Amino acid sequence: MTRIAIAGSDKVVVGPAGSSLLTVLQEAGHPIATSCGGVATCGLCKVTVKQGKENLSPICQEEINHLGSIAKIVGLRLACQARCSGEGEVRVEVPEVEDVAARKAAKAERLRQLRNSNPGGRR
Ligand code: FES
Repeated sequence: MTRIAIAGSDKVVVGPAGSSLLTVLQEAGHPIATSCGGVATCGLCKVTVKQGKENLSPICQEEINHLGSIAKIVGLRLACQARCSGEGEVRVEVPEVEDVAARKAAKAERLRQLRNSNPGGRR
């Protein structure tokens, strides 16, 4: 079992060997972005490993493709590809999940106001 400590919170979750960080975080109810469901095509599940990278699987080519070769140096990983592999603790920084629905609603409201202030006119 690998302990996953989430930076910026006091939350620690436990993942069995072989399970991805994405799965462990989702099963623990911690919000993490994804649109591909964990098949390494969206790149949204990017996390930063602050400590304990030796308790995760080595970085894979799909991660390098999405994150660039600097990923190894700065600790970036795709949570869907990084798998628990050690008995120690991993400290990860998980970006806040953007509320896409709220952003779309705000944009629609701005466009509506723009149209109402300039009906039939040019923008
Ligand atoms: S969940 Fe899409 S790349 Fe990891």
